[in-house]
Amino acid sequence: MPEFSTVSMLSLTNKRIILGITGGIAAYKCAELTRLFAKAGAEVRVAMTKAATEFITPLTMQALSGNRVSLDLLDTEAEAAMGHIELARWADLVLVAPATADFIARIAHGQADDILSTLVIATSAPIAVAPAMNQAMWADSGTQANLSELAERGFKIFGPGEGEQACGDVGLGRMLEPEQLIDHCAGLFEVGQLAGKRFVITGGPTREAIDPVRFISNHSSGKMAYALAQEAAAAGAQVTLVSGPVNLSTPDSVTRIDVTSAEEMLTAVMENINEADVFIGVAAVADYRPKQQVKEKIKKDSEDLNLELIKNPDIISEVSKLDSKPFVVGFAAETNSIVENGRVKLEKKNLDLLFANSATETFNSDSISVTAISSDQEFEIPTANKNVVAREMLKLVSESVKS
Ligand code: C5P
Repeated sequence: MPEFSTVSMLSLTNKRIILGITGGIAAYKCAELTRLFAKAGAEVRVAMTKAATEFITPLTMQALSGNRVSLDLLDTEAEAAMGHIELARWADLVLVAPATADFIARIAHGQADDILSTLVIATSAPIAVAPAMNQAMWADSGTQANLSELAERGFKIFGPGEGEQACGDVGLGRMLEPEQLIDHCAGLFEVGQLAGKRFVITGGPTREAIDPVRFISNHSSGKMAYALAQEAAAAGAQVTLVSGPVNLSTPDSVTRIDVTSAEEMLTAVMENINEADVFIGVAAVADYRPKQQVKEKIKKDSEDLNLELIKNPDIISEVSKLDSKPFVVGFAAETNSIVENGRVKLEKKNLDLLFANSATETFNSDSISVTAISSDQEFEIPTANKNVVAREMLKLVSESVKS
């Protein structure tokens, strides 16, 4: 039996979870909970109350989440790394598990006297609590009134479960098991159209060194590739972006590998293509590179300078040749006969889909129009912002890679 449903795996991909731990015996289950979140592709940042640290160590939670644990509202070092307001904004979900009767009471009354209660009132993300307490404390009318208050304010209440308790009592008050909590959290998110798919995308120009200070390159800004990477990740894909030198910041949840030359780009692509479902070659790879690797700066002593160039590897064609070939998408920036030239490239490079566009309109622009070309189809995606066009492109890709 799987640890949790496949849907959980998919809808939690790339989701940012604050796991708030309060001081109950069930806190030890947070180690497993964090592992399961990571397995589902979510990123976890942990915030703990002081009492929680008596039950499970911050070091354990740091090691499992891969992120620094937030313990103290007044920790200047932690605030400098990611302040509590930034952290509250970062989250897609806050899950407080286990949530003690005391913590529930405090947040029901809007208190903000430690890092976790402050995050709860500072975030606009959904908040879920997983109560964990003795059955008598659970049945207490004050606890129930506090929970009703939270439910009315839109908090999700996950559990509690029934059964044997740490104190020997039997009844309601056990924290739900980590697998159940994962399923409940997953239920709060939609499954993205590309959930679970692995993408490798190339973007930007390459630079081919002439000597230590000069290079051959082109005007590619990388904007189209970055828009595709951003939108694919937002739709749930795991994205590796192999990027030439550009002036853009890495989109959220995207793994970026920086390269300079075409040969470096090829190596990085081949190292990451193994499990990919989709490869999109957006990079404007320099077609040729200088034949000689000159170690010293070339002097301008003579009137003529002849550079001998040799052809670079065609990265997308190399990917198309692989035995376990992913769905391969190419681009063709043309100055004339855009669609005809695009179709020739689709066939020559053995691509599944190609987006052809005007070379003169595209470079460094925020908008683009393209013609989508496959073996049996051809249609226009009209001029729009590159993110809007990227979403349209990804709809076509997702239709083709649906499992
Ligand atoms: O042949 P052309 O450069 O017009 O082909 C463009 C397509 O091929 C793009 O998808 C581009 O990323 C890819 N390409 C490549 N390696 C090259 C040249 C182009 O992957 N050396």
